[in-house]
Amino acid sequence: MTTQFSAATDNSDVERLRDRIASALARARARTLGLTDVMDEAELVAQHSRLMSPLVWDLAHIGNQEELWLVRDVGGREPVRADIDELYDAFKHARANRPELPLLDPAQAREYVGTVRDKVFEVLERSALRGDPLVDDGFAFGMIAQHEQQHDETMLATHQLRTGPAVLSAPAAPSAVTPVDGEVIIPAGAFTMGTSTDPWALDNERPAHPVHVPAFAIDAAPITNEQYAAFIEDGGYTRPELWSERGWSHRQEAGLVAPQFWERDPAGQWWHRVFGVMAPLRPRQPVVHVCWFEAQAYARWAGKRLPTEAEWEKAARFDPTTGRTRRYPWGDTEPDADTANLGQRHLEPADVGAYPKGASPAGVHQLIGDVWEWTASGFEPYPGFRAFPYAEYSDVFFGGDYRVLRGGSFGTDPVACRGTFRNWDHPIRRQIFAGFRLARDLRPARR
Ligand code: AVJ
Ligand code: FE
Repeated sequence: MTTQFSAATDNSDVERLRDRIASALARARARTLGLTDVMDEAELVAQHSRLMSPLVWDLAHIGNQEELWLVRDVGGREPVRADIDELYDAFKHARANRPELPLLDPAQAREYVGTVRDKVFEVLERSALRGDPLVDDGFAFGMIAQHEQQHDETMLATHQLRTGPAVLSAPAAPSAVTPVDGEVIIPAGAFTMGTSTDPWALDNERPAHPVHVPAFAIDAAPITNEQYAAFIEDGGYTRPELWSERGWSHRQEAGLVAPQFWERDPAGQWWHRVFGVMAPLRPRQPVVHVCWFEAQAYARWAGKRLPTEAEWEKAARFDPTTGRTRRYPWGDTEPDADTANLGQRHLEPADVGAYPKGASPAGVHQLIGDVWEWTASGFEPYPGFRAFPYAEYSDVFFGGDYRVLRGGSFGTDPVACRGTFRNWDHPIRRQIFAGFRLARDLRPARR
């Protein structure tokens, strides 16, 4: 099955698109309910971290965004709860203050999202899914499915921050089937970055545009726990010369000594807390819960650097034999259990080498799934960017203190992950499921 469906042209195409939308919405909702049903009332309204909303805020916010776009805008229907718009507007209240708001309680929030969803299915039945850029190819429905899944990943990060006995479980992520290390050389040349044709691509991924990328080398896999532990062992957190000025002052203020959730036992062995369970570090698993400054210090220690966003995307999408840019490293088919660790199938990244079928034509592994990868780049619009359908998704964040992350994590659903997908966060953030891989310049070949 491919994701790149063509424009809905006849009735059976429209029906297929409706089914696809309905299943994307249903999958998101099953995950949302799974993340909230395992918590009691008190835990749903509690603040597990000042960086995060109470889970009950995310829940009703998911419903409110869905109401705004699909019930009112696309459906042209009366509001369900116009009185609560302000409470669930992310720009009106900082995350730290959300617990104090007069929020819907868990039962009310569940009822609200259910009422909205019932109306959305009626709107979906009646929509032609064409003739208006908001609904062409089901865009607004796809946007809302992605929005819910993005909040589900945020809620998953809240679960990880929560203390107390485990409430989530999943099978362990796979071990390596092939050894993967070293780096891959990507020759100089232009490639097409971004997309103008992927129907559910969000505004910041658009438009497709040519970018010339000088030759570079990129790691075949993300940096692992054992590699990162060697950096710590070598004084990584005590040598200011390895850090940028801003990074070093943050390291000192925040008291960083290891990735978030790592603990060393008296024997010197590293452990980490994963969704309420203490576990020994898996040496070949990509490191996760490091901030951009830590990634940058590691890179300096290793004599390398973070890849730019363009380098990352070229490594992930460019097929040198055809000159085409792909949707995913392995081609255009949707991710599955053989190509990428996505969709909360596991609650941890898989060892490097676990997804040989997901490698790019050049031999770069695990670009999609496992861990979000910090890039060197700030979050900026592509040439020709147009905010659509709302400036608050991307436009207001351009030029801010953000770094772009690529590739998705084990907690990212496939609907919100592709070779063009752009995520961003502040360079000090560590609660997201982020790791990194390194790159370096290559001298142009001598003639
Ligand atoms: C793209 C993940 C940075 O969670 O802040 C959710 C996604 N935008 N609701 C975020 C988003 C509006 C956004 N990130
Ligand atoms: Fe949101």
